[in-house]
Amino acid sequence: MCGIVGYVGKERCVEVLLDGLKNLEYRGYDSAGLALALPETGRIETAKEVGPLANLTSVMGRRDGDFFKVRAGVGHTRWATHGRPSEANAHPHTGGGDPLGPEVAVVHNGIIENHVELREELKGRGREFRSETDTEVIAHLLAERVAAGEALKEALAGTLKRLEGSFAVAAMSATEPETIVAARHQSPLVVGLGEGENFLASAVQALLGNTRRFLFVENGEIVTLTDSSVEIQTLYGQPVERETFEVDWSAEAIELGGYEDFMLKEIHEQPAALQATLAGRLDAGGAVDLSELNFDLSGIERIVVVACGTAYHAGLLGKYAIERLARLPVEVAVASEYRYADPVGDERTLVVAISQSGETTDTLAAVEAARGFGARVLAVTNTQGSLITREADAVLLTKAGPEVGVAATKTFLTQVAGLYLLALELAGTRGSRPAEELAEIGLGLRRSPEKVEEALGLLEGRVGEAVEVFAGARCALFLGRGHLYPAALEGALKLKEISYLPAEGYPAGEMKHGPIALVDEQCPVVAVLGEGTLREKTLSNVEETVARGARVIAIAREGDKAGRVARVVLPVPEMPEILSPLVSTVPLQLLAYHVAKARGLDVDKPRNLAKSVTVE
Ligand code: G6P
Repeated sequence: MCGIVGYVGKERCVEVLLDGLKNLEYRGYDSAGLALALPETGRIETAKEVGPLANLTSVMGRRDGDFFKVRAGVGHTRWATHGRPSEANAHPHTGGGDPLGPEVAVVHNGIIENHVELREELKGRGREFRSETDTEVIAHLLAERVAAGEALKEALAGTLKRLEGSFAVAAMSATEPETIVAARHQSPLVVGLGEGENFLASAVQALLGNTRRFLFVENGEIVTLTDSSVEIQTLYGQPVERETFEVDWSAEAIELGGYEDFMLKEIHEQPAALQATLAGRLDAGGAVDLSELNFDLSGIERIVVVACGTAYHAGLLGKYAIERLARLPVEVAVASEYRYADPVGDERTLVVAISQSGETTDTLAAVEAARGFGARVLAVTNTQGSLITREADAVLLTKAGPEVGVAATKTFLTQVAGLYLLALELAGTRGSRPAEELAEIGLGLRRSPEKVEEALGLLEGRVGEAVEVFAGARCALFLGRGHLYPAALEGALKLKEISYLPAEGYPAGEMKHGPIALVDEQCPVVAVLGEGTLREKTLSNVEETVARGARVIAIAREGDKAGRVARVVLPVPEMPEILSPLVSTVPLQLLAYHVAKARGLDVDKPRNLAKSVTVE
C-alpha cells in the first residue's frame, strides 16, 4: 500500500505529481504529500495534508510563485502502517537541514522491519525524530551520508544496505536538486520515460497521462533520474541494461467518463473486460487455446490456488470448475495462511496465484513458499509486468484494463473467466470430459459478455427495491450452494467493504449451524439460487429464514418463481449452469453499490482499505 511518484523535467512538476497521486490513491488515502526542489535555491520544501489527496490539491491550488516553477519532486499517498494518519506522519519525511547538513526528502512504500533498532541508533547520534513512522529512519540515514559528502546515489545505496523489510523508496537531496534516486526491494516501482522529463511511480497507471513507455526496476537496483537520463545500477554500482516496455492501457481508462463513481463504471465495463479476456483464447466452436502460455499442463496431479480477498473467491470458483471438468484435485488457500503453512507438494503440483495487482505481498510470499517444494507456478493477473509476472513460470493475463475502485468488480469476473479457460484447457488436455460437453461450455463462455450485458439491462431499475429491503438493516446473510457459495461470499465481501454492514457469506446448507441465529427483520438474506436440485435445497433453507422473519432478496434466473419466498427477485439471464456465477455476481455488485450509495458512502474509497496490499 502507499503510492509513490517522482518527476524530473519541466516546470510542470507539481501538476505531474498531483496527477500521479490521484491515480495512485487506490493504494491509500490517509494523507498525501509532496517534496519539491525549489528553483534557484535548490532548497527542498514539503507540503503535506491529512486525508484524501483533494485536501493537498486544494492547499497547493492556493500556493503560487516558486512552486509552479519547480522541476523536480517526489510525492506520496499513504495507507498508515506505523503511526496514525497525521501531518507529522505524512510523507515525505526529511532528514538533515541546518545544522545537520544538506536536507534530504524521502517517500516510501512498504515496511522497514528493523526501524526500532535504527531509530535508537540514530537517536544515539543526536538525530531528532518528528514522526512515529518507520520511514523516517531512511531520511536520517540518508542525510548522514549526504552530509558526509556522498553523492545521493551512493548515499541511498549505503542506506539501503542497512534496511530490512520491503520497500520502494524515492529520495532527493538539496545537494542535487535536479536528480531523483529510487530503489526497491519487494515493493513495486516503475520508471516512465519522457522527452526532456522522466518519471517514477509505484504503478504504471500513475503515469498514463504522460507516457506509455516504461522500465522496471528490479530488487536490489537503484535508479537515478534526471530530465535527460535514466541510469539503473545495482546496490554495488554495476550498471544494468534494461529494455523498455510499452503498456496498452489508455489514459481514458482511468477517467470517470460520465459515471458517478469508478465502481459503477467498472461494473458496466464487465462485458468489454470479459470480451477482451476471452479474445483469441476461445474460437467460434468453443475450443480453448491457451498455447500463448507456453506452459506444459500435462503431468499435473494437483492444483493449489493461492490468493487474497476477491481473488480468493475467484479461486474458489476456479476449484469448482477445474474439479468438475478436469477431475483434478484443487485446494484453494488464503495466501497469508499458505505462506506460513509449511505447504506440502512436489513438482507435479501446479500453483495458480491469482492477483489483480500482481503485487500483493502475501500472494507473492505464498508463491515463494510453494517454490520451496518445487511447484510450477501460473499467475493470473491483470497487471502486465507486475511483480507476480516475474515470479511465475507462465502468466494468464486478464484484460480488464485498469481498475480504480477499491472494491474489485471487473477484475473478479475476468479472473473467473480466466480460470474457466484454464479448466477447459486442462480438461481438453486430460480428456476428462467429452469434447462436445467442453465445446458447449466454451460456447457459453464465449457468450458471457453478452449475458453480462443482458444482466445489466435486466437489473436496471430493479435494484432500488432490494435496497429498500436494507433500510434499517444491521447485518446481512448471503447464501448459496456449490459454485454459488463463492458467489455468496463475494456478495457479502462487496457489501461489507463499501457499506460497512456486517455481512456473512455462508453455504446455505450450513446456515442452520450458527448464522441462522442472526436472522430477524433487520438481517436481510440474499439467496443466490441456481438450477436443479441445489436450487430447491437452497430455497428450503431460505424458507427457514423467512419463517424467522427474514426479508429475502433472491438472485434467480429471469422468470424463476422464487418470488414465493423472496420480497425481491433480482433477475439474471440463463447461462450454462457451471458458468452462472458470471451473471449471478452482477446483481450482488450492484446491490452492494446501491446500498452503500443510499448510506451516503464513498464507494470508490472505502474506509481503512487499499486496493493493493503490499504489506503483510
Ligand atoms: C485488497 C483489495 C481487494 C483484492 C485483494 C487482493 O484487499 O481491496 O479488492 O481482492 O486486495 O488483491 P490482488 O491485487 O492480489 O488481487
